[in-house]
Amino acid sequence: MARVALVTGGTRGIGAAISVALNAAGYKVAATYGGNDEAADKFKDETGIAVYKWDVSDFEACSAGVARVQADLGPVDVLVNNAGITRDTTLHKMTVDQWQAVISTNLDSLFNMTRNVIENMRAKGFGRIISISSINGQKGQFGQANYSAAKAGLIGFTKAVAQENAAKGITVNAVAPGYIGTEMVRAVPEEVLKSKILPLIPVGRLGEPEEVAKCVVFLAADDAGFITGATLSTNGGQYMA
Ligand code: CAA
Repeated sequence: MARVALVTGGTRGIGAAISVALNAAGYKVAATYGGNDEAADKFKDETGIAVYKWDVSDFEACSAGVARVQADLGPVDVLVNNAGITRDTTLHKMTVDQWQAVISTNLDSLFNMTRNVIENMRAKGFGRIISISSINGQKGQFGQANYSAAKAGLIGFTKAVAQENAAKGITVNAVAPGYIGTEMVRAVPEEVLKSKILPLIPVGRLGEPEEVAKCVVFLAADDAGFITGATLSTNGGQYMA
């Protein structure tokens, strides 16, 4: 029986590459998205992967969404917490809304999603929880107090939940991408990207979404059961944690 994978924010950017790679590896994939119907429809038409719309910052929406996915595809074996947003600005200019939007979408979502799949995984004795952190959660980033806090919090969550579920066949890991060539990174002012970021990447280029997806497929595998609580960096050498 094919395993079932649920990828939040799975219709665009890094998430889309993860959905496609898991699908190619034989998983039944559900890709969620929060708002962009047009991109989700296009993704569904191009890949044939099932898409679902809900807000990962809303616990009740996650409960209902996971129930729909499970009714359609079966119990979730692999959860990829990928959905995330940026609201970049320096702390002295940051509004409460900019802080809360990032914390609720990027950090509260981990609880909202994982809480809704963990009991089934524990009962089944198998599960893979893979959450997408960021180099900027590891090292901090100018203009990203909110995002860096959420992505660092994600690593703490991963280590705690890994310990709680290790004896139940469930691994819990993080992947920490560096600067990947997606819309999110291309939204950084070009001058900042060229002068402040690219020179810091020893590999000399932005990463590809597929290079992150490869890490997720590796950690999701049945035979990756001895890796838990880990953070796998894929950042072109920009930060060696
Ligand atoms: N380090 C040191 N100084 C920096 C800096 C940095 N990384 N970035 C900007 N500055 C400096 C600028 O040089 C400028 O200094 P001067 O006034 O002396 O020239 C000052 O800070 C203000 O910079 P801006 O003119 O850019 O100010 P702003 O208020 O318009 O914008 C900002 C500030 C929003 C932080 C903007 O610089 C920015 O977007 N920076 C990029 C932030 C970033 O890397 N975000 C990552 C997005 S991708 C992502 O999040 C995915 C992932 O996981 C990696």
